[in-house]
Amino acid sequence: MTEEVVQWCIRVPIQEGEAMRRQVIADGIADRSLRPRAEDGFLLIPICEKREGAVQMPFAASPKREELPRHEQVGGLVILQDDDVEGAKKILQNRPNAHTALYATSPVEGEFRTRSFKVLAGLDTTETLYHEYGKRMYVDLTAAYFSARLSNERQRLLSQMREGEKVLDMFAGVGPFAVMLGPKASLMVANDLNPSAVYLMQRNLRLNKIKTVVPTVGDAMNLPNMLSPLKFDRIIMNLPFAAYEFLEAAAKLAESRCTIHLYSLVEREGEHNEDILRAFPNAKITEKFIRSYSPTSWHAVYDVEVGY
Ligand SMILES: C[S@@+](CC[C@H](N)C(=O)[O-])C[C@H]1O[C@@H](n2cnc3c(N)ncnc32)[C@H](O)[C@@H]1O
Repeated sequence: MTEEVVQWCIRVPIQEGEAMRRQVIADGIADRSLRPRAEDGFLLIPICEKREGAVQMPFAASPKREELPRHEQVGGLVILQDDDVEGAKKILQNRPNAHTALYATSPVEGEFRTRSFKVLAGLDTTETLYHEYGKRMYVDLTAAYFSARLSNERQRLLSQMREGEKVLDMFAGVGPFAVMLGPKASLMVANDLNPSAVYLMQRNLRLNKIKTVVPTVGDAMNLPNMLSPLKFDRIIMNLPFAAYEFLEAAAKLAESRCTIHLYSLVEREGEHNEDILRAFPNAKITEKFIRSYSPTSWHAVYDVEVGY
């Protein structure tokens, strides 16, 4: 009898199945150890992690499923948790869409929040083209911060956004929020301190034919001076160790009715409520868990509604 495993999957009408299957492979979330299967006119495509709209379903376990070392995939790059050359080669053999296997030789560090890498196998590069929900982005992991882990967050914000909003991303990196939300905004300013990140962002905006986003390079503390008298309907603050220090600057840039999304690493619920209320008295704060960071800390997003 075939053994079954329960896995997250995306369920789409059969006729949309092939396009979705390609999309989840491009997004690097396909669980290639399991075969998609049809049921009641729908295709069930197994994925490695929970996604918005995903459901858990049983799949036939492949008897000759190969055990691969733990890794994360960003476009054509796979990042291993261990300095394991043989494991790296095995992953590349099993992941036809990956061209390079890397091992991080430093933590995420410095003002630019970048890491150093050693190439374990494949091409000698840390650059790749990453796909997310139909958009493409150039990423270079040594030059600028990038993580695919907030892709669900970008979709959540996109679905909350009204057409024609003015949006500010204070710590925009290579522009994943800008690429995703920009087309729905009348104007989006996407700023970063790291010139290499802004260079990649410019390429990404061009690649996706986005004309509503103005990329800027600079310290987010100076944005009120730089952008005055512009005000924004939505402000994204994704600098997990220090974003709360920029709340006063954000307050100067917020429309009287504005939503702020503050991403932070926290050790207790409500950790930044006081900071937020100091900058935005009477704001309505909703805090949401995103994922664990260490045994005692986690990534949280504070949605701050002002003037509602
Ligand atoms: C965690 S990354 C987030 C990037 C992007 N929002 C994303 O989700 O991929 C934080 C970014 O903030 C930038 N940064 C750090 N300090 C800054 C500052 N004072 N002003 C503007 N950007 C800053 C870093 O260069 C980095 O790209």
